[in-house]
Amino acid sequence: MTRNGVCTIVALILQALCPPQAWSADPAAFGEEILRQEAIYRSRGEQMPDGYTIDRSLLVYTYTLPDDFGRALARLGAQDRWLDIGAGRGQAILDYFRGSTEAMNPPVPGRPKAQAVAISIEDRRTPEWNETAAGAGAGKMRYLSSKRLREYAPDALGKFQIITDVIGGFSYTPDLSLFVERVLSLLERGGSFFTVLQDVHGDGAENKPYYDGSPYLTEIATASGSEVRVCSWLKSIACVEVTCEFKAGWTPPIEVFGVRKVCDEISVPPLVTIHYAAGTPPERGFRLGN
Ligand SMILES: C[S@@+](CC[C@H](N)C(=O)[O-])C[C@H]1O[C@@H](n2cnc3c(N)ncnc32)[C@H](O)[C@@H]1O
Repeated sequence: MTRNGVCTIVALILQALCPPQAWSADPAAFGEEILRQEAIYRSRGEQMPDGYTIDRSLLVYTYTLPDDFGRALARLGAQDRWLDIGAGRGQAILDYFRGSTEAMNPPVPGRPKAQAVAISIEDRRTPEWNETAAGAGAGKMRYLSSKRLREYAPDALGKFQIITDVIGGFSYTPDLSLFVERVLSLLERGGSFFTVLQDVHGDGAENKPYYDGSPYLTEIATASGSEVRVCSWLKSIACVEVTCEFKAGWTPPIEVFGVRKVCDEISVPPLVTIHYAAGTPPERGFRLGN
């Protein structure tokens, strides 16, 4: 069976189990698919599709994301801020406050931890999160839910030195250029966005789509239909320095990105969404242009 076949069956089962609620997504463009995607966000326990992973540890983040991520996180101090977009149950932030990767990337001795903010559409906080947040000190660990990144007012979240997204909004959003614009507006100058996509045509790589008969999970094309790889699109954004690393040995293969904001006049080439099929993550196609 193709990826689409598996996803359609999972999404239909989820929809039957979870009747639609009032969610804030705009269902106008890809209505059915957006509703199926929302059923995945709402899923709990046994209803949750196998591919919907919500508990990746900080060790997994460090191992997955560009090498700079772990070092940059270890350098943060009390006045600095880390935003994890699409945090699931917030395990990576929880691990940071428990010091679980400090042997790999030792922090500066005596330097207090940064503030960390987790955002997720659905609230997946655990008792461990609540306990650790209560002990970490006021405002140190925040968890915000019920909204997508684009639904926060421009000043609602503040600025960050580090933003991460591990198979969160960057993989799931139906509006990739708006999403990236928002991310970059939240970064301090000199700050970095660390993220990853599964099953994309890697920069300089020869990989084919992972599933026979399916497209790559995220595809971008020009108006005339020529392929634009995600890495090239990111590199065409004004005021950022981008690194792309394709990891062919992963199943499915992944590409990890480091996007450093070097000046404030950010300009993200707009993308129009031309395909969105719900999944974990969804299949998305974009065209350059307004
Ligand atoms: C597959 S889980 C990944 C969780 C976590 N990063 C991990 O690796 O365990 C996807 C997460 O992305 C969130 N998400 C998807 N689109 C989002 C958006 N546009 N804004 C904020 N969160 C989003 C979901 O609510 C969920 O928390």
